Formats: sequence, C-alpha cells, structure tokens
Amino acid sequence: MNKNIESLLSEKRVFKPAKDFVKKARIKSKAQYDEMYRESIAKPDKFWAREASELLWNKKWTKVLDWSKAPVAKWFVGGQLNVSENCIDRHLDGPRRNKAAIIWEGEPGEKRTITYAQLHDQVCRFANVLKRNKIKKGDRVLIYMPMIPEAAVAMLACARIGAVHSVVFGGFSSESIKDRLHDSKAVAIITADGGYRRGSIVPLKKNVDDALKLSAAEVKRVIVFRRAGNDIHIEEGRDVWWHRELEYVDANCPPVPLDSEHPLFILYTSGSTGKPKGVLHTTGGYLLGAYCTVKYVFDVRDEDVYWCTADIGWVTGHSYVVYGPLANGVTSFMYEGAPNWPDWGRFWQIIEQERVNILYTAPTAIRAFIRAGDQWPLKHDLSSLRLLGSVGEPINPEAWMWYHNIIGGGRCPIVDTWWQTETGAIMITPLPGAIPTIPSSATLPFFGVDAAIVDDSGKEVPPNVGGKLVIRKPWPSMLRTIYGDHARYKQAYWSEIKGVYFAGDGARRDKDGYFWIVGRIDDVLNVAGHRLGTSEVESALVSHPAVAEAAVVGRPDEIKGQGVVAFVTLKTGTKVTPGLREEIRAHVGNVIGPIAKPDDVRFADALPKTRSGKIMRRLLKQIASGEVVTGDTTTLEDLSVIAKLSAPEE
Ligand code: PRX
Repeated sequence: MNKNIESLLSEKRVFKPAKDFVKKARIKSKAQYDEMYRESIAKPDKFWAREASELLWNKKWTKVLDWSKAPVAKWFVGGQLNVSENCIDRHLDGPRRNKAAIIWEGEPGEKRTITYAQLHDQVCRFANVLKRNKIKKGDRVLIYMPMIPEAAVAMLACARIGAVHSVVFGGFSSESIKDRLHDSKAVAIITADGGYRRGSIVPLKKNVDDALKLSAAEVKRVIVFRRAGNDIHIEEGRDVWWHRELEYVDANCPPVPLDSEHPLFILYTSGSTGKPKGVLHTTGGYLLGAYCTVKYVFDVRDEDVYWCTADIGWVTGHSYVVYGPLANGVTSFMYEGAPNWPDWGRFWQIIEQERVNILYTAPTAIRAFIRAGDQWPLKHDLSSLRLLGSVGEPINPEAWMWYHNIIGGGRCPIVDTWWQTETGAIMITPLPGAIPTIPSSATLPFFGVDAAIVDDSGKEVPPNVGGKLVIRKPWPSMLRTIYGDHARYKQAYWSEIKGVYFAGDGARRDKDGYFWIVGRIDDVLNVAGHRLGTSEVESALVSHPAVAEAAVVGRPDEIKGQGVVAFVTLKTGTKVTPGLREEIRAHVGNVIGPIAKPDDVRFADALPKTRSGKIMRRLLKQIASGEVVTGDTTTLEDLSVIAKLSAPEE
C-alpha cells in the first residue's frame, strides 16, 4: 500500500463547522443538506428549475432536462439567456453597480479595480471590436492571455455575442497553440504582447506568431493587448492592437439571447490516449453549475473579496475566477504572477492588503508554501480569511492541517473540492456551514450529483472498498461532447461502465458516505494540479530525432503530487552525450510547455514489454518510484530489461 493511502485510511480528525460560521451560512446543518440533496436526486427537475430561476432568462425553458438521447444531455430546453448579461448587466440596477467586480494586481505590483459598471463598459466595447473584426456568433476564438482583467473581458465579450472561446494556458508552447487552432478551427486569436512571470516577460505574441508559422489554419485576425511593452511583430492585414480598435467602437452592445445549449467554450484537456480533447461546455447548464457552486460551496456574501488563484487557462479559472463569482455579483480578485515573486510572502501580503475573505488554491501550492517556511504567512495579518478551498489533486493530511492552522488560524472551514474540466463545476465537496470535514476527504456529493464507487462490472462496492468513481445521473454543467469528435466523447466517458460517466479517478467511500479520492487510475498524470496525458508526453519525446521509443509514468513527488519520469530508448547508433538528457527535456518543454518537462529521463536499451508488445507500465511505475518490482512478470518478454532499468546510470 502506498504511504498516501495508508495515512488516508488512518485519518480520523473531524472538524465541525464553527458556530459563528454556521450562524450566517446558507446551509446550516447536515440535516438541511441531506434534505436538499435528497430532493435534488429524487426530483432534479424541480430542484434545478428553482435554482435556475435565480438566473436571468430571456426566454424560459420548456423542459429542464432532455436525456432521451443519452449520453447527449440538453438542459433547459428551449430556454434562452446570455452569460455575460448574467455576469454583468443584471448587477447594474442595484447596489452592485459601483462595486468592484474585479480587483487585480500585476506581478510588478500595479493595481486596478474594475466595478461592475466599468466591466460592462469594457465588455460591450470589446464585443463591438469582435464584431468589427467580423467575428460572429458560433465562431471559435482562441484566447492566449496573461492573468489580466482583459482576459476576463475577452471571455465575456465572446459570450456576449455568442462566439465560442477556447482559452489556452499562457504556459503552453506554440506547438500546443497550433494543435488547438487546428482542432477548434478558430478564426481569431486574442493575445497580449507579453505577460510577467517571475520577473521576466513571457513572449505570448511571439508564441502566437510561431504557431501561425507552423500552420495558419483558419485564423484571419489576431487582436493584441499591450501589456508588457515588449517588442513584437505586427503582421499587416492580420494583427491589430486592442487599444487602437477601441477607438472605432462605442459602448452600445446588447447581449445576444442564446439558446441554453449554445456552446460557451471549448477547453482542451489531456486524456489517456491521443491528443488533448476539446471539452465543450454550453450556456445555461454550465452557468447554473458555476453559479450554484459559488453560492453554496463558497457561501459568498456581498461584502466578500474572493480569490481563486487559478489561471484562466484552466477550468478552475473559467468557473471560479470569471463565471461563477461574477454570476453571484462577488468581487473576484485576480493576480498575474507567481506565488513566490519577489518572495514567498506575496500571497499573504495580498490577503492582508486586500482583506481577502475566501481563498481557493491548489495543494501543490500549499506544499510549496510549507517548504518555504511558516515565517512568510506569519508575518502577515490573515484574519480577514473566513473560508479556504482546495482543488486539483488530493490534499494530504499534513498539507490540510497546515492550511487549516497556519493560513486559516484554526477558524476557517476548508472545502476540498473534487471536480474536473469535464464536470464544469464542483461535484464532491463539503458545504462549509453544514458538513464536518476530515483532512483529505472531499466528503459528500454536491446537489444533483449521483456519485458512487463501483467495480469493473459497474456494481457498487461496500464501504471502504476502493473502486472507480462514477456519476450515474446527468448534471447541468456536464460536458456535452468532445469538440469535433462525438464518438470519442461516448467512448472516453460513457463506455468503460455502461450507462454511467466514468471520471478516470479511483476512490473509496467510507461508512458515513464520505468520498476519499485516490487519484487517476488511467494514463493521466496530475503534475502540480495540472493534467498531463502520458501519451502526449510520449509523442513529444519520440518527435526528438534521437529518440526511438518512450514510455512515461508518474512517480510520487513531495511538492507536485506527481513527477514525470520518461524511459527512453535511443535510435541505433545514437550515443548518450552529457547534454542529451537536458536536450530531450527541453524538447518536451518546447513541444508542450514547461509543465510537461520530465523530471527524470532514463535511457534504456529496451522497455519492458509483454510478449504481445505492450509496454508494462505497472513495472515502470514501480521502477520510477524506486520500489522493488513485484507482481506478475510472467508475460514479460525479457526479464533482464528490468534489471537494467532499475539501476539508472549517472
Ligand atoms: O484526479 C482528479 C484531480 O484532478 C482531475 C481533474 O483535473 P482537471 O480536469 O485538470 O481539473 C482540475 C480542476 C478541477 C481529477 O480527475 N482532482 C481535482 N480535484 C481534486 C482531485 N483529486 C483529489 N481531490 C480533489 N479535490
């Protein structure tokens, strides 16, 4: 048994919601949660219709859910609404008009506050820029931006006119941009000259230029925001400056009422095979999921400053920096740079200064803060915090306790939220005023989420027995398809166990019904909270001229959760030179992005394979983790391969 699971099984500390938190909470007890949960499962139409009525609809739906063509879901059939109108316009008539929608801090330290009225003005103007540049409803627009308010403005402007955005994380390479352009058939790109990261400038526009050199696909327009002031190339007839375009437009741009199932965005994420999948989310159900989870899970108040530290390039940035908080009329804080720039005190200084009330971050960051030392947070007044959240990977008990004690001062509930790009919104989580928490358990399903642990045949397993985490009923913010590949949608999510959504994670459920997520059981790694497909990294490795074959596995990593280990065989005649390992690592960084760089590259004469030629990953995982190879090796073609791999040369 690995150490992580062992410590999970022995974890018994229970933290009840504090009395003064409960007093103000929307859901105040487990009994109240139970009752609402029961209704949400037994009468989902009634439950979701009531929640959806809190959003602004231009036309009411005729049917809450159409699941007759499962696994194709249609939510709020016949309804029409606009996401940007829900996130902005509907707050303009009341006291939120001049409230901060976004408070932003750049890495160099400058600050901006954008009220809901100002955000409205900026989004309307930029939506008119999109129209002026012939971007229409249904067109795909790739967004490759730093963490600046204009990234949110670009997303909301697309939503306003019904264009479908696809945000690409600013840490991804030109090769990755090219692949996403091709797959989404985007007609335009919104980018910036550069963005700040740890004191240097990330050349975003140059990466876009390089991607377009690799293949221009269908891109007709590149709109460039001036952020870092670095020199860039402007291609006449294709590239335009954001600020110049604004001179030609006014602020009059009514939101377009869109069908509830109109696509809102495509977000690429890694799967266990092939290239990243374009997860497609639509309008009504997605917005409802993001809205409702922010309302209940973060239990937001009008006076809150809420900070989700995720980049808008990930789904967490979509649902919990932009759409969820703004739909609730909350102040969303955004920070451009790295947590350790100029030092490890940056986050805590921001919290003190902005009086942040809710912090939502990732275990990998928490573990890095632990390593950096308690002196950094202890220097700052963190008493404004009232709620903490964790997302992206399992949080180990030690990190949970540190977060609770050092950051939360022992008084803040922690919501450990399990969900995925595909689920659109939080699926398993404590409700902070209602559910006692136990370090490392994501606790109970959110409303409407019929989660279960099953064996390979789909049968629910008894308490405390590990199995596959599945969702048995459709939920509003579920993905609708994989863009351009509906067969893959059915195959990837709905075929492993017939009739239910399989999430790719292994978990167990204890006798109280609490979920304990163990992690991915497919060939997907979770490195510092970021999803990486082993096959993606492998194809990047074999595109290096010296590499003949490669197999990639994860190994436990104290900070990042998982590290990437690549086993590589070289082409005949290739010598292992001192620089080759670093060159191969850098190559993967160039092909995918720095997050995919293997931590360790091991050269091998051969990879362990079964007699039918399948790479035996189980053995490689054990070798990568420094474990003794155990288990069945009878199908292995050549036992001596193991001996060689187990003793890496150095
Ligand atoms: O393995 C689970 C892990 O992250 C995966 C989803 O990754 P992604 O689509 O990139 O979305 C990340 C942000 C939601 C899941 O399959 N994961 C996410 N949250 C948790 C988690 N594992 C354990 N506990 C969590 N709270």
